[in-house]
Amino acid sequence: MINNRKIFHCLTAQQFNRPFLEEICDLADVIRKVANSKAGMEFLSSLLNHKRAMLYFVQPSTRTFLSFYSACQILGIKCAEVRDPRTSSEVKGESEEDTVRTFSSYFDLIIMRHFKANFAEKIAHMLDNTNRTVPVINAGSGKDQHPTQALLDVYTLRRSFQHRGGIDGKKIAFVGDLLRGRTNRSLALLLTLFDGVKQYFVAPPQFQIGEDILRYLEKVGVEYEVTYDLKQVLSQVDAIYMTRIQDEWDAEDGTTSEIDIEKYSIKKEDMSLLKPDAVLMHPLPRRQEISPEIDNDPRAVYWRQVRNGMWIRVALIAMIFKLDLYIHDYHIRSY
Ligand code: NCD
Repeated sequence: MINNRKIFHCLTAQQFNRPFLEEICDLADVIRKVANSKAGMEFLSSLLNHKRAMLYFVQPSTRTFLSFYSACQILGIKCAEVRDPRTSSEVKGESEEDTVRTFSSYFDLIIMRHFKANFAEKIAHMLDNTNRTVPVINAGSGKDQHPTQALLDVYTLRRSFQHRGGIDGKKIAFVGDLLRGRTNRSLALLLTLFDGVKQYFVAPPQFQIGEDILRYLEKVGVEYEVTYDLKQVLSQVDAIYMTRIQDEWDAEDGTTSEIDIEKYSIKKEDMSLLKPDAVLMHPLPRRQEISPEIDNDPRAVYWRQVRNGMWIRVALIAMIFKLDLYIHDYHIRSY
């Protein structure tokens, strides 16, 4: 468990505590205000212009990749990228661990998306045992975790509920492929840090939320409901977190896609079932789970989530490099 302002690697949702979440969200709010002016943007982009980051994204990604890329640019960090390991020495038989260790000699930060669960953790541990460790950010690891997505989701929920007592006591439903979706797994874990949040898991039987998550919720005393009936849940909850079926894993797990996706999708006419002030979220990319006709409904916040993602990543990187107090100080002096 980290203390408020102390973060080096960002690897799993379980590493955070509540004060850290509040601090990173406060910092993201301040950074957005600072970024409103040219002078503020110049200040931000001067902060880390002596640093270089490597984006090691060997699993498909454009939105998270660009979100991190933009976050680095805002802070002045120079980026290099590996998207396709076939162009690296791994084709000469080098292990991925050696590849990343080599990169760590050139860079000050590694941001990593990988198809293997725990890979970022393994790399961080390996680097910690060398004489040149660098921070590692997990930008999505297999079917397991996506901690920075969970941070941006919490940030979005906090902003959505800021005039309604915050996230505490809210009811939140996860819908879709909850077994193989890493975003909902990380967010379910992070929400355990809030008081009285009830979680609902709405999924086809073969893609229902993992037992490991349910056992964790029980251990920390979080109330939850596992169900297959979306319509029945829609009117009860304050937030709905839709996800797509992660069928890129079908070949690996031998699961088939014989599911009726309609049952786990929201159409325009379903919106009348939602509370008037509920929020509808999605980590994106979406397929047919949310009809585009819903995009202009004020309860649809998924485009806001994208923007929040970039700012929370700026805040995260700023905290890793211990710039948070400096940014708060600039903000107080300039406004
Ligand atoms: C998600 C992911 O990669 O896990 N995308 C994202 O980072 N926003 C969700 C998904 O691919 O369905």
